[in-house]
Amino acid sequence: MQTDNLRNLINLVEAKGKQDLVLEKLPYSRGALAPVMSQATVDYHYGELAKGYVERYNKGEGDASFNEAGAFLHNTFFPQLRPPKNNNQPHGASLALINRKYGSFKDLKEDMKKEAMKIQGSGWIYLSRNGDIKTIKNHQIKTDIALLIDWWEHAWAKDYGSNKAKYFDNIWRCINWDKVNVRIYSGK
Ligand SMILES: [Fe+2]
Repeated sequence: MQTDNLRNLINLVEAKGKQDLVLEKLPYSRGALAPVMSQATVDYHYGELAKGYVERYNKGEGDASFNEAGAFLHNTFFPQLRPPKNNNQPHGASLALINRKYGSFKDLKEDMKKEAMKIQGSGWIYLSRNGDIKTIKNHQIKTDIALLIDWWEHAWAKDYGSNKAKYFDNIWRCINWDKVNVRIYSGK
């Protein structure tokens, strides 16, 4: 048997033993994040790319751990967003954590932006549940995410061209702090 066929067979057997992944439903319409994230970006990013990780994992196509982590991260990222709001400030548990670790929300954003701009290639940046700023190369499953920002080019290039710093500045308008607070409280 050729190596490719054998690999496909192994993938299929492994896929049968796994539980299917599900793409989380968006708690807003696909156009609701504009102008921070356009409907065209959400259609492509959520409707095609995020869905693709789920579907390929479920079909046993490609690298299972890459697809599983891609599905996991997008299922963490999109539901934590909300339609843009001016002066969208953290409150409750997230505010307390941010103030304790960074002094202010403004300082957190500055520190996180510095780290994000250092990322080479595709990745993610997140605030952990204990308040650390961490990065992810490509896709990896992490169990300590409080607030997650997709830093892959597909998240910002359509709307911001090469200006990913502007995407970073704008994404804060769409953070659903209630969701972040639940993660901090519940450990999920
Ligand atoms: Fe993404």
